[in-house]
Amino acid sequence: MASTTRPVNRNLVNLLLDAAVFVAFLAATAPRFTGLAIHEWLSLAVAAVVVTHLLLHWSWIVGVTRRFFGRVTWGSRVNYLLNALLFVAFTIVTFTGVMISEVAMPLFGVQLGHDRLWMQLHRLASDAAVILIGLHVALHWRWIVSTTRKLLFRAGGRPSPRPSDLAAPVAHEVNR
Ligand code: HEM
Repeated sequence: MASTTRPVNRNLVNLLLDAAVFVAFLAATAPRFTGLAIHEWLSLAVAAVVVTHLLLHWSWIVGVTRRFFGRVTWGSRVNYLLNALLFVAFTIVTFTGVMISEVAMPLFGVQLGHDRLWMQLHRLASDAAVILIGLHVALHWRWIVSTTRKLLFRAGGRPSPRPSDLAAPVAHEVNR
């Protein structure tokens, strides 16, 4: 008997995951709108998703890092640097958020007080992350539009690769 299960569409999974992280990040930039409890828990959830995502694609990251100094296009290098900066900004905003946490950390018995320096760093890293995410979306815009179109209208053919895929070491190593 033929199996009726349909293969998982990786582009759809990638697109939905990216969209969910993007919306959650936008919400995280407005704590006065969401309230502090949602701000902290949502941001921590986004951080957990980002760490899982990086661990799942670790071999890809190592491969692309090695190729950075080899024969790759400048577009791929810019894309790589932008992602690295985004990761740094995101790590700082999460770390400083934990340092000034008023809801999540006190629940675990950790209360570090409201240091002005952490708060200023938190704001600064958050602003930097917003700018970097804007650039990131702009750089991947063609992939976003073409993948959305193909998934919505099922016009056939393969969606174009992401700019980051173009920087991959070899095709079979791209595990995303
Ligand atoms: C995606 C990550 C995050 C972003 C983009 C972000 C962004 C922001 C922004 C824009 C503010 C407002 C600053 C202001 O009032 O001028 C803020 C405040 C704050 N954030 Fe975050 N944040 C993130 C993660 C976190 C995390 C993980 C925590 C704690 C677990 C946290 C705790 C706080 C606290 C306690 C405040 C101060 C609220 C107040 O006293 O008005 N944040 N954050």
